[in-house]
Amino acid sequence: MALWGGRFEQGVDEFTQEFGASLEADKVMVQQDIRASRAHAKMLAAQGIISPEDQAAIDAGLADIADQMAAGGFAYDVNDEDIHMAVESKLTAAIGTPGARLHTGRSRNDQVATDLRLYAKDLCRELLEGNLGLRRVLLGVAKDNLDVVMPGYTHLQHAQPVLFSHHMLAYFWMFTRDFTRLSAALRAADANPLGSAALAGTTYPLDRQLTTELLGFDHAIPNSMDAVSDRDYLLDLEYACGVSMMHLSRLCEEIVLWSSTEFGFVTLSDAYSTGSSIMPQKKNPDFAELARGKTGRVYGDLMALLTTMKGLPLAYNKDLQECKEGPTDAAWTLHDCMAIVAGMLKTMTVHANAMLAQAGRGFTAATDVADYLTKRGMPFREAHEVVGKLVLYCEKHHKDLEDLTADEFRAASPLFDDDITHDLDPAGIANARDTYGGTGHDAVVEQLDEASSVLERD
Ligand code: ARG
Repeated sequence: MALWGGRFEQGVDEFTQEFGASLEADKVMVQQDIRASRAHAKMLAAQGIISPEDQAAIDAGLADIADQMAAGGFAYDVNDEDIHMAVESKLTAAIGTPGARLHTGRSRNDQVATDLRLYAKDLCRELLEGNLGLRRVLLGVAKDNLDVVMPGYTHLQHAQPVLFSHHMLAYFWMFTRDFTRLSAALRAADANPLGSAALAGTTYPLDRQLTTELLGFDHAIPNSMDAVSDRDYLLDLEYACGVSMMHLSRLCEEIVLWSSTEFGFVTLSDAYSTGSSIMPQKKNPDFAELARGKTGRVYGDLMALLTTMKGLPLAYNKDLQECKEGPTDAAWTLHDCMAIVAGMLKTMTVHANAMLAQAGRGFTAATDVADYLTKRGMPFREAHEVVGKLVLYCEKHHKDLEDLTADEFRAASPLFDDDITHDLDPAGIANARDTYGGTGHDAVVEQLDEASSVLERD
């Protein structure tokens, strides 16, 4: 019979028992559950609700279970519906009556909320570490390839030459925002529901400040009904994971493109590639694809929880049991994808020459040629038109702007001097954009400094 079996004459059958259980999903929180129980027992003793002897027995018993668990030797009973009951039954079996006093002034409703918040905080900390690791690698790649010039794209069409470092740093800033979002999710989780009991608080003189301090929460949640039914912090965590996966997915999409024969911008290390069972020549960017693909399930985790929460009346409802696998899945998926992508970036070979060769193709100098005319007095709209016509001329004659002679330029406008043919070097074009946040060498050096200090701060 379950721990709550007093008012029942009959147990549920095995399938029903399994259907209602959450043990599979919440056993990942066993250490958090034990931490919360030890704090609760300590507070009960401090308030004179249980004796110091009972508290000592509970504390030693729980410490022992935590050790067994860490060593992987904890056998679960199918009758234990969830991790809270599993730990409590184990404790009572080990120490007897003192164990049966642990649940005084507590419900599984505030217990699960407490475990989940401690667990969410631990997940956030892991993710923040992983995020820092990935950003360190991005910064390293940006520093090591400072003067590599590549085509910058809009609509995946050649737009203007940019520095590869600048491109990498764009991702650095995306992941910096993810760090902020994950930190906010951590702060959202950082409040103590323990002491709210089932939904209404309790008649025992609990000291909620004491458990708040013992568990390292920022503050106690001021409303017991909100405390047991709020899962917003898990949504915050899943949203932060979803956005970060989206950033990883964009980066991975670029790695897939760049490692193709058409681009040839990078070669992935063998350690981050796979072959084909039929085509002997294949070297596939599987891990970039997999990280891109896993983004879908992380979005799914967020949508699932949003949908579960919708329409729940206050306070606790069993639906809330459904909110554990999602955050666990979202967090570990992001965690592993960040590590894989960091490793992939760190070990890939950057082909500077291939990037440079493409940087000048596709009329990437066109804006600068128009600016050339504008700086010699032509209104920009007119210059845009003149250069548009030049591009058309090039297309018809199968040439690029770089291939044109000064006379061909002059045929389009007498404002062109001979120096126009020297002004089309992609590196020069990129480096001329040296305003704050631009792709020019000096601006990127400044940006690298700023990125380093932000990383230092985080
Ligand atoms: N296993 C439940 C959960 O994970 C614990 C709380 C159950 N409380 C209850 N009265 N059914 O949400």
